[in-house]
Amino acid sequence: MALRFIVTAGPTREYLDPVRFLSNPSTGRMGFAVARAARAAGHQVTLVTGPVALRTPRGVLRIDVVSAREMLAAVRRALAAERTSSALVMTAAVADWRPASCAARKLKKSGMDGTLRLVRNPDILRSLGSKAPGDIRIGFAAETGDPAAEAVRKCRAKHLDLIVANDVTQPGAGFGVKTNRVAFAFPDGRVDRLPLMSKDAVARRIVRFAEHLAEEGR
Ligand code: PMT
Repeated sequence: MALRFIVTAGPTREYLDPVRFLSNPSTGRMGFAVARAARAAGHQVTLVTGPVALRTPRGVLRIDVVSAREMLAAVRRALAAERTSSALVMTAAVADWRPASCAARKLKKSGMDGTLRLVRNPDILRSLGSKAPGDIRIGFAAETGDPAAEAVRKCRAKHLDLIVANDVTQPGAGFGVKTNRVAFAFPDGRVDRLPLMSKDAVARRIVRFAEHLAEEGR
């Protein structure tokens, strides 16, 4: 059964003036791997990505965004465009905070006092609320330390079918690298710890899990 995947990837940038921003080290590798794997398995894929230096996988519709609020709007549009159920996979490292204001011109050092006022960004997954029947939602959790307990909590709080947790302090896992060491955490509290594997292999497992849910009609 061909599914409609919406995959987010990369970081968001939260500008405080035209030349300065808050962000994180996400390169988009994990999300692009999911988009590639879903497309290779014959699914339709929309990839919403923050600023990254990766080539768009063949056959994938790519939507570029910069900030968390732009990513939220793009995800909402992509979901609304689907007439049938969709599988949303949020690998993006979305900034939780943004500067309270963004200056139109470069801020002068002399005019800054060393404090930066921040406001909360919307939580994209939470803001989508409960799922419609047939929809599949998969998140990621970047943790520093054993990610299992926190991952299960996030999985439930964000109405997810699965959260893929990675301890980004582990060698070969998390940001930038071509491999990942992840645990699949489910809303019922089950946690499957996977060995170190390529991000492509993790991505194939995620796509197979979504296909399995769809076949079960969940
Ligand atoms: O891009 P790479 O260099 O390959 O690195 C991959 C990765 C480390 C970015 C990826 O494996 C990963 O862990 N992504 C999720 C990072 C993250 O933001 O985790 P979180 O625990 O803060 O968020 C939990 C979930 O909520 C995520 O699915 C996130 O996309 C989502 N979220 C977070 C914040 C927010 N404001 N809105 C969201 O929807």
